[in-house]
Amino acid sequence: MEKLLIDGKKTLSGRINISGSKNSALPILAATILNNHTTIKNIPFVNDIFTMLNLLKFIGLKFKVSKEKNSVEVINLNKNINTVAPYKLVKTMRAGVLVLGPLLAKYKKAKVSLPGGCAIGTRPVDLHLFALKKLGAKIKIKNGYIVASATNGLKGANFKFPSVSVGATENAILAAVQAKGPTLIENCAIEPEIKDLIDFLKKLGVKIKISGRKIRIKGSIQKKKITHKVICDRIELGTYLIGGALAAKKLILTNINPDFIRKEINILKKMGVKMIIGKNYIEVYKSSKIKNINIKTDPYPGFPTDLQAQIIILMTQASGISKIKESIFENRFMHVPELKRMGAKIEIYNNTAHIYGPCNLTGAEVMATDLRASVSLVLAALIADKRTKINRIYHLDRGYQDLEKKLKNCKALIKRV
Ligand code: UD1
Repeated sequence: MEKLLIDGKKTLSGRINISGSKNSALPILAATILNNHTTIKNIPFVNDIFTMLNLLKFIGLKFKVSKEKNSVEVINLNKNINTVAPYKLVKTMRAGVLVLGPLLAKYKKAKVSLPGGCAIGTRPVDLHLFALKKLGAKIKIKNGYIVASATNGLKGANFKFPSVSVGATENAILAAVQAKGPTLIENCAIEPEIKDLIDFLKKLGVKIKISGRKIRIKGSIQKKKITHKVICDRIELGTYLIGGALAAKKLILTNINPDFIRKEINILKKMGVKMIIGKNYIEVYKSSKIKNINIKTDPYPGFPTDLQAQIIILMTQASGISKIKESIFENRFMHVPELKRMGAKIEIYNNTAHIYGPCNLTGAEVMATDLRASVSLVLAALIADKRTKINRIYHLDRGYQDLEKKLKNCKALIKRV
């Protein structure tokens, strides 16, 4: 099994080109089921994207990947369509469940494996099914699969999600764009990735309006040959921003839109991180003094749960006690025991991590447990004394394109063995 070896305490400097958003590309790829010929640009070639492409291939779509151009062309000839998402593909990546909405909308039936739990919590799909039922789908759970049908097609409806979910909002939109009549959905997730999906669907002729947490959908897909460029990965951007704040003489992050991370920028500023914010770049510098802070994760525009593990590393370098409450997932502090093995002083009380800083981290052999936890270990290793060995790095490969290359170009001592 591959491991990462990182020798810490090296000053970073250089430029990192931020990849396209994985969490934007995944629902947009699922949406290509609804169209005939789609080209998607700025695709991050990470393992979750390949899993989604394999799922589309299993369903019967054809695709052409251009790694040099970071683009993929997806063609749906509507021949030999298999409206199934099998367990082997959905179990490794929960976003596989996003094909449920488009399959049901276009082909009036779908059989999609239940994704099951994962390291960070139980992660049910009840809100996805709630929305599809409101749109007229009949749904049964059979042998570990969601078996859904809408014999006469889906019908537009008005409904309100009992709580905010990114995936359920995406599945609901992807189903409603092909339903008869208008739909109004309340209490939606409004992450930039949802807005990117909406911009994509607008290119297909659907009328979608978003105001606050309400989304109105009218009209249905008109098949077109379209091209869409996905937005930058705000979580990758936030990760390297924290990396820069920890260890950079000067790090320049390019191909970005700072508007997607205003909350994060404000928090980092409050912590004393020095940044220059450009229109499509950010320069970040290591600060001599980091201040402690208390924050909590929340749905967008709140602080993202996907950056909780990374900001904890910055908190280990702050003076005093910092606190971060995880309010999205019930079990998302798997990185904490590993960080403690590197010398971090962290205690968890009622889903809030108390981080006692500043403290000196030391290299150790550690284990990656999920995507964002893994990258937090990389950040910790960059500032630790001596060598850190990170095991189970397949989690990192699910979501960070060219991580070692990007860091090596900025003078980090990192290698995969
Ligand atoms: C997406 C992101 C993930 C991020 C998460 C929260 C993708 C591919 N993944 O995941 O990186 O961490 O948003 O920002 O975009 N829930 C239910 N029932 C449901 C669905 C969700 O109870 O049917 C709960 C979840 O267990 C969780 C909360 O709602 O506690 C939010 O999850 P959700 O927003 O759905 O996350 P994902 O879409 O799975």
